[in-house]
Amino acid sequence: MSSKGKILVTGGTGYIGSITSAELIEQGYEVVIIDNLSNSEKDTLDRIQDITGILPHFYEYDLQEQESIERVITEHPDILGIIHFAAAKAVGESVEMPLHYYRNNIVPMINILESMKIHNISNFVFSSSCTVYGQPDELPVTELAPVKPAESPYGYTKQVNENLLKDTIQANKGIKGIALRYFNPIGAHLSGNLGELPLGVPDNLMPYITQTAIGIREELKVFGDDYNTPDGSCIRDYIHVVDLARAHVVALERMMQNKGKADYEVFNIGTGNGVSVLEIIDSFEKATGVKLNYKIADRRAGDIEQIWANTDFANNELGWKASLTLDQMTKSAWEWEKNYRESLKTN
Ligand code: UFG
Repeated sequence: MSSKGKILVTGGTGYIGSITSAELIEQGYEVVIIDNLSNSEKDTLDRIQDITGILPHFYEYDLQEQESIERVITEHPDILGIIHFAAAKAVGESVEMPLHYYRNNIVPMINILESMKIHNISNFVFSSSCTVYGQPDELPVTELAPVKPAESPYGYTKQVNENLLKDTIQANKGIKGIALRYFNPIGAHLSGNLGELPLGVPDNLMPYITQTAIGIREELKVFGDDYNTPDGSCIRDYIHVVDLARAHVVALERMMQNKGKADYEVFNIGTGNGVSVLEIIDSFEKATGVKLNYKIADRRAGDIEQIWANTDFANNELGWKASLTLDQMTKSAWEWEKNYRESLKTN
């Protein structure tokens, strides 16, 4: 089968990286993954193959070593674009281990951009986050909203990496980049065969819900019901990870087909809908028929009250729009949790 071209995916065995890799393969691209497996499992590659029929190229390398990227590019000199997911992503952990976050999340970005320069690779998609907005002054938040001082080392690494990309593009004709500012990705591949695999106790809401429902956690704590929101719980813009994966392919193609308005662009990737924690629980219970054991607890330090995206720019300019529903998000997360636990029993 002739491919549309080769794409290097860093962090391609992680949650969003694996689902994007599957999407790229299904859309006809050849995928080359670099991942150090620090927060993912090698079996993920087999899951990608189960879904797509194709095993991606894989290198268990650490991106902190420039040599790693150089070796991969030397072996695959025809790489057309890079999607850079690989990063540590736990806000609380980043406060405890700032040096680890700065080194682990920023050095690879510099190394990849250096290699792009050396090998004339033009197209780069960066996994950024709505965390760069902090608690925005106006909702829904647009891409023009100011970037607020970061509240965690993790958030700061996203800001620094956006700047690294922007400055590198400005200084080097021929390099193009898109930063996708993700809102809250949840859910799993629609096959139920790829999803989030948090190590230890999950920090994020959706895996905590599915692990509670399956009996690994005793109960979910809803962090606060006294916020200034309609039901008192925090509001986020939850987006189906499959819609998010598709946004990466659209972003790459925008650059490869020279459709961009500028060499560096930023897009909000969300649904445009604000959903509360209690509404997520309600959707989960309705979509799965499973009753969730939860209780209201104290607020979590550092949580912002509410944020959701204005997605006009992504919808109109990027030509991408989220299409999967909240119930599809919660239901697919549950299917994945069940399938994954089942696969542990049979292996
Ligand atoms: N929540 C609970 N109970 C839990 C876990 C979460 O009630 O056990 C609540 C949180 O208080 C919050 C919502 O669920 O209101 C979502 O929390 P997550 O931890 O899933 O997501 P966050 O919005 O806090 O964090 C996410 C990403 C970060 C990113 C941030 C940007 O995980 O990487 O959005 O705002 F930085």
